Amino acid sequence: QEKTKIGLVGLGTVGSGVARILLDHGDRTARQAGRVLWLERASVRDLKKARDCNLPAGVLTDQIDAIVSDPSIDVVAELMGGVELAREVILSLLKAGKDVVTANKALIAAHGPELFDAAREAGRTIAFEAAVAGGVPIIANLTQCLSGNQVESLTGILNGTCNFILSKMHAEHVPYSEVIAEAQRLGYAEADPAMDVDGTDTAQKLAILAHLAFGARPDWRAIPRVGIDTLDLADVRMAQELGYTIKLLGVAELTEKGLQLSVGPTFVKNGSPMADVAGPMNAVRVTADAVGELFLQGPGAGQMPTASAVVADLIDTAVGRTKLTFQTLKLWSNESERTPVADQ
Ligand code: NDP
Ligand code: HSE
Repeated sequence: QEKTKIGLVGLGTVGSGVARILLDHGDRTARQAGRVLWLERASVRDLKKARDCNLPAGVLTDQIDAIVSDPSIDVVAELMGGVELAREVILSLLKAGKDVVTANKALIAAHGPELFDAAREAGRTIAFEAAVAGGVPIIANLTQCLSGNQVESLTGILNGTCNFILSKMHAEHVPYSEVIAEAQRLGYAEADPAMDVDGTDTAQKLAILAHLAFGARPDWRAIPRVGIDTLDLADVRMAQELGYTIKLLGVAELTEKGLQLSVGPTFVKNGSPMADVAGPMNAVRVTADAVGELFLQGPGAGQMPTASAVVADLIDTAVGRTKLTFQTLKLWSNESERTPVADQ
């Protein structure tokens, strides 16, 4: 059987999950792709750290360049996080003729259009389903399943760490500072968890969704945002007394003034589907002119749910499905065609 050789740049929480699926379920991925997805190399910073997967000898390296410069590697998943080094690595991978998969929302929110242009110039693709809402296939829904619609609004719980913390604050009345370490230990939080709790991560994901759903190119830093780090238990108790649950929501809405965007803790009426989303889950409600209302919910953070999305992108890339999606993905390069973002 033919092989597609895979490289992983980063073998932490998500990378190890991806390696586990590739190594433990090679029969499954081969069946789906019609070819073997072969884990050729994986790069890390620290070769001595214990890894959460059974790597064959010779796979691990501390040299990212060993992956970039290996001509036998076809597809590389960037799973190290951060922005500047990740950008440089992806540009080098594209130049070296490799297709790329990434879970890095901070990178796509900051440099997505530049990277997509570079991929098109190189005749390669970038797939990024795991960058928003972890295991929930929101990117595929927006770029493929809903492409006959005008999306009108999008409301999401987009950060699993915050939803996990808020769920504990509501159920057990423990302060957020006590739960954050648990979210880190369980692999939900970013390397710098301040990005989760101050609303940055949600704003980055909302900016990516706004680009795909509305043809806007908002700067995530300009989205008004409040995090959950401003909340205390008195806020939670007050919401509960009034029949509400507090959720950190990212909201994008088409208005006459343009696309209105915001991120903040919101009182959500108990009994509604959004209020019931508990734990490290994400949910996205989309309203659109043809389909009406759609509600997607599932694990938004954590090792295996995120690996699920990354491996799906690897399979799609190996069989050439990503190529078609990527070629038709509107980049809204021409400013006059974009949906304007309303003054906030
Ligand atoms: P981790 O911190 O667990 O893993 C990062 C990996 O990259 C580690 O293997 C680390 O090496 C390596 N690495 C980090 N910096 C460098 C560097 N400067 N040079 C070389 N290697 C480096 O992160 P996660 O797996 O949690 O996240 C990875 C990406 O996935 C991020 O972009 C994150 O935003 C995204 N993501 C994460 C989710 C999650 O639930 N955790 C969900 C969805 C997306 P070493 O192991 O030796 O330290
Ligand atoms: N830290 C992120 C979260 C990971 O908690 O949602 C998934 O993007």
